[in-house]
Amino acid sequence: MRLLVLGGTAFLSRAVAEVGVARGHDVVTVSRGRSGTAPDGARAVIADRDEGLPDELRAQPFDAVVDVARFTAQVRDAVGAWPDAHRVFVSTISVYADTATASGGPGTLPLLAPLTDDASEDPEAYGRLKVACEDLVRAAVPSATIVRPGLIVGPGDPTGRFTYWPARLARAASDGGDVLAPGDPADAVQVIDVRDLAEWIVTLAQRRTAGTFDAVGPSVPLGRLLDDVAAGVGVTPAFRWVARAALEAAGVVPWAGPRSVPLWLPRPEFDGMLAHDDAPARAAGLRTRPVADTARDTLAWLRATPGATVTGLTAAEEAAVLAGR
Ligand SMILES: NC(=O)c1ccc[n+]([C@@H]2O[C@H](COP(=O)([O-])OP(=O)(O)OC[C@H]3O[C@@H](n4cnc5c(N)ncnc54)[C@H](OP(=O)(O)O)[C@@H]3O)[C@@H](O)[C@H]2O)c1
Repeated sequence: MRLLVLGGTAFLSRAVAEVGVARGHDVVTVSRGRSGTAPDGARAVIADRDEGLPDELRAQPFDAVVDVARFTAQVRDAVGAWPDAHRVFVSTISVYADTATASGGPGTLPLLAPLTDDASEDPEAYGRLKVACEDLVRAAVPSATIVRPGLIVGPGDPTGRFTYWPARLARAASDGGDVLAPGDPADAVQVIDVRDLAEWIVTLAQRRTAGTFDAVGPSVPLGRLLDDVAAGVGVTPAFRWVARAALEAAGVVPWAGPRSVPLWLPRPEFDGMLAHDDAPARAAGLRTRPVADTARDTLAWLRATPGATVTGLTAAEEAAVLAGR
């Protein structure tokens, strides 16, 4: 298969290009050359999509195109090219207007209103632009898969969110103290390993699967996910669960960033965000590895990658929260 990856030099799109090469496909990547390099075996085209795809590229035939863009101008520019190629457009679960309802998916959850102003400062611009990008793809490409990932994790993750947990739990082996665990151990959480998602995206392209899917792993209680991460990094820590009210009183913020506990979300407002129905994706060929394996490999990557991002509470901040200071 001649596979064009629009992107191909960062986290997910690079993993897609890697899988394509490993499966013997003829892979071309397109990037500005800022985020990283294409995998060995792929042909790298350097171009800025804000200036339009190069004519020389448009003249080349492809069987499948994978696009991870979040701006409508880039997607609009790309949808007219290669009308006979199968398209896999990587969207996001952030397209949904409902974050509270569990077990939902494309057929049941309402979407945000589409937005076509790429420069908008709307707080929901990311999800709304992706809705508009999806619409552009569906309208212009006869054979397309829309893939809406949940939280993508694993080696190479530039966000440092899931990475916080393997890093924090590995430290428990040496410091021996309690580990702050946020919210309620029964809270539903859900991740997908970047490598599993990449394998599935290439499979969808090969099979020319049409439709819209949430790309998520199994939804599990947070307590179990943290136990699995601990098992993956080889520790048996003592978790100290701290309820939402106490976290908020201590100035701890959800999800990601400074003073956050990554993966923690306010409930019940976000009961659905990490609890999407994974059955349709599984029926369409998605296979996911155990979280323990993802955690082990993420820690190995982190240790081998100076400067890799880890977000969340520092050790001193966590100790202060646990001490009630
Ligand atoms: N991370 C998550 O948990 C999560 C969750 C849900 C959905 N998603 C979606 O998953 C996808 C992730 O894709 P990704 O990991 O590959 O990262 P990305 O940041 O979405 O895409 C980066 C790739 O696009 C290239 N690129 C960016 N701007 C460009 C431009 N103007 N012209 C040409 N190339 C450009 C980058 O290379 P250069 O910078 O070198 O140009 C890089 O190869 C996205 O669609 C994202 O919305 C992510």
